[in-house]
Amino acid sequence: MPVPVILDCDPGHDDAFNILLAAAHPAVDLLAVTTVAGNQTVEKTTLNARRVCAVAGIRGVPIAAGRDRPLHGPPLVAENIHGGSGLDGPGFGDGEPDVPQDPRDARTLIRDTLLAHPAPVTLVPTGPLTNIATFLLAHPELTPRIERIVLMGGSTGRGNTTPAAEFNVLCDPEAADIVFSSGLPITMFGLNATHQARATADVVSRIAALGTPLSRLCVELLTYFAGTYREVFGFDSPPLHDPLTVAHLIDPSLISLVRAAVSVELTGTYTRGATVVDLLGVTGRPANAEVGMEVDVAGFWDLIVEAVRVLGEPTRD
Ligand code: BDR
Ligand code: CA
Repeated sequence: MPVPVILDCDPGHDDAFNILLAAAHPAVDLLAVTTVAGNQTVEKTTLNARRVCAVAGIRGVPIAAGRDRPLHGPPLVAENIHGGSGLDGPGFGDGEPDVPQDPRDARTLIRDTLLAHPAPVTLVPTGPLTNIATFLLAHPELTPRIERIVLMGGSTGRGNTTPAAEFNVLCDPEAADIVFSSGLPITMFGLNATHQARATADVVSRIAALGTPLSRLCVELLTYFAGTYREVFGFDSPPLHDPLTVAHLIDPSLISLVRAAVSVELTGTYTRGATVVDLLGVTGRPANAEVGMEVDVAGFWDLIVEAVRVLGEPTRD
């Protein structure tokens, strides 16, 4: 049976590839997409989710907008990485994508989806955890309908937005704290794992060789992403963070996991938003998460290239 999934995201170049992977692979049943403010405003991330679904022929998956700001404080965006649109690179044009926005808000769509599905559903957040925390606070009675949470965020080491904090967690540390303290099964893919999954020139050539309009768009996305990662971080090629989540659901052997206590720093003078991961087991705090460690990089890219191939087939749309 495919894994029933709700993606909660802030597309975002790497979020976009995660939508493609979840929609393309038969091991995943993509039930809904919800969006949150993160890489850009929620208006832009919602439009981007609709654009990605439209160009990839992903229809019938409801897309609803969620929170426009974190639980506390002002929103943060990652314009330096994802551009003014949140998905710079390809020319999407000014027109409206022919995939609609669901009139419900994200919280309601998550509730309705959990209630409608016969089995517990896996939540896959790849942006700030604001929607998920808000949902857990509003609907504690529905937690038995959540199978687990598989998220991209944090790091076992250092951050990317401050020396200590990774972007998704830094955007809304209080929300991340609620999620990590929820008692639900959590699998975390942080920068220590995602930085292994670099879109090298070889990967980009494999996608380009597919020769479809979708593959060309994916190359444009990766080319833009490569430029900002080179400029901002000096990376030779950009890491495709978010799809580690769905790749793990498709093939759990692709990324090794360790169980550990993960705490979110809320008050540090220089470290707010850091995930403190007790890999050595020295704190005595009980493990509350599985943490992604070593990635089978070749296997990961095989999944991504195949998703772009399948969705790009002319007969699909
Ligand atoms: C995370 O931040 C965002 O910019 C990416 O989409 C990813 O989810 C990486 O820190
Ligand atoms: Ca993201």
